[in-house]
Amino acid sequence: MIRIAIDGPSGAGKSSIAKAVAARLGIVYVDTGALYRTVGYFVRSKGFARTDIEGIVSCLPHIKIEVRYENGAQHVYLNGEDLGDRIREPEISMYASAVSAVPAVRDFLLDTQRDIAAKNSVIMDGRDIGTVILPHADVKIFMTASNEARAMRRTKELLAKGMEANYEDVLREMIERDNNDRNRAVAPAVAAPDAVLLDNSDMSIEENVEAVLAIIREKSGVTV
Ligand code: DC
Repeated sequence: MIRIAIDGPSGAGKSSIAKAVAARLGIVYVDTGALYRTVGYFVRSKGFARTDIEGIVSCLPHIKIEVRYENGAQHVYLNGEDLGDRIREPEISMYASAVSAVPAVRDFLLDTQRDIAAKNSVIMDGRDIGTVILPHADVKIFMTASNEARAMRRTKELLAKGMEANYEDVLREMIERDNNDRNRAVAPAVAAPDAVLLDNSDMSIEENVEAVLAIIREKSGVTV
């Protein structure tokens, strides 16, 4: 069993890289942001404001989240329904960030994340994987890139999914979300002291995958 934690801000390319590395190693890729997005989606669908902490907490007993792997891809079910790309909308990103600052939400999602890692070899991406969820992970990486590189990637990703996106709005919302995630009181999005920092602003996807594999080889001794 191997457990690899990849943390870092939005748009750092964590999910694309972690997916590719998971395929190379034949292990499970876990996108933990999708869980916060799913809670955010539910809260919004009930008409609560992002700032309404009591409203957010009152939603939790009505939410059942299941993570399933279908043909190697992660699907998150909210009360039996797979929301697909609906959780990727920019407004849901802002809701995800808001609900993720609420301690009751983090507690609510803790067991789901740890259960997957207890049963499988995983590469898990998020904000607090190396610090809170898997503090004993075999490998911890904190991946970053410049604000401009991240906003450009996120804009292209949204356009490729057929969603509306404009670079300036994406950049502004990304900075707001990063500030929320980094400065919250509980499980802030910061590097674990034993994480390897990787700035991929000037790397291609292939170079980034190779850089991550090199860190994994060095830290865990696996041969890939
Ligand atoms: O990785 P993402 O952009 O899909 O995550 C959406 C939000 O969820 C992000 O702004 C912060 C929150 N999040 C978190 O607090 N902890 C995680 N492990 C993953 C995501």
